[in-house]
Amino acid sequence: MKSSASSLNTKKKFLILGSGFSGSFFAKTIRKLGCTALTSSRSENKDPNSFVFNSENRIVPNEKIFDGVTHVLSCIPPDKNGNDPVLRSLKNKLRSLSLEWAGYLSTTGVYGDTKGDWVSELDPPNPFQNRSHRRLNCEKEWIKSGLPVQIFRLPGIYGPGRSTFEAIKNKKIRVISKKNQVFSRIHVADITNAIIFLLRNKDSLKFHQIINIADNEPCSQIEVIQYCYSLLDLKMPKPILFEEAKEELSPIAQSFWMENRRISNKLLCETLGYKLIYKNYKIGLKNCYLNFKK
Ligand SMILES: NC(=O)c1ccc[n+]([C@@H]2O[C@H](COP(=O)([O-])OP(=O)(O)OC[C@H]3O[C@@H](n4cnc5c(N)ncnc54)[C@H](OP(=O)(O)O)[C@@H]3O)[C@@H](O)[C@H]2O)c1
Repeated sequence: MKSSASSLNTKKKFLILGSGFSGSFFAKTIRKLGCTALTSSRSENKDPNSFVFNSENRIVPNEKIFDGVTHVLSCIPPDKNGNDPVLRSLKNKLRSLSLEWAGYLSTTGVYGDTKGDWVSELDPPNPFQNRSHRRLNCEKEWIKSGLPVQIFRLPGIYGPGRSTFEAIKNKKIRVISKKNQVFSRIHVADITNAIIFLLRNKDSLKFHQIINIADNEPCSQIEVIQYCYSLLDLKMPKPILFEEAKEELSPIAQSFWMENRRISNKLLCETLGYKLIYKNYKIGLKNCYLNFKK
């Protein structure tokens, strides 16, 4: 990987491909550090820092967008055929830029089911769902691309505006109980801040191509829902057993309950020294609650 000054400053220009929940949070934060950040979406909008990129109808950004780009972060999932939208449409362009760094947001789904055991980057991926096989293929494509890529495997992402509070408000909550089932999570601010930490310390830290970003405390969904109801001072509905609820769940919702794993963040937080802002769901949800009440 090309060596570079580790400071993030006005000379750095980021292209954030996919400015959904995580991409837009990252863009806002990196701009506060003085960097330029342009973000893509699939359709035109009024944001002067936004450009259109849509692999579905082959709309690619114009040449000017790429001028002076030093960093790229892809936050776009595989397309319906399993291809990576960014590599499919922009690989050659990105390769021509001599990037300092290319980040790719992936998922911990590539680890498959560990029956509740901890799983780390040292464990071989063992995808179970078709979408996780597709995701692993995309990771491999990024690694093969010749770009200076770093892959971040993420569990369930939550944060202000996308949390259990909104699910409760929109009546989209189902309180399901399944014995011994846990989920790992990450607050969106920790995704951004962990990546910025790694970029800032790039010259002093050993490079790891694949890094999990997860909080310290995987736990059941019921604990999280119960905590939100208690902050709202409301009574939680009675839990339904997974076996009884299963039939009513969409295939995608069902699939999340078919895997049970605890994602280790030891590489990020112990070996590399990143300090989580929101080390567990309670601290993270308190932050979401402040936003929710506004
Ligand atoms: N949500 C989670 O809990 C979770 C957990 C683990 C990993 N991940 C993965 O982490 C990444 C970021 O997640 P997120 O929840 O922040 O994403 P998100 O809010 O769903 O945003 C996805 C972005 O990708 C863009 N996009 C989708 N298909 C595209 C295509 N074919 N061509 C161009 N752009 C396309 C969307 O464009 P528009 O803005 O036009 O819609 C959007 O900006 C994704 O790869 C996601 O699968 C998510």
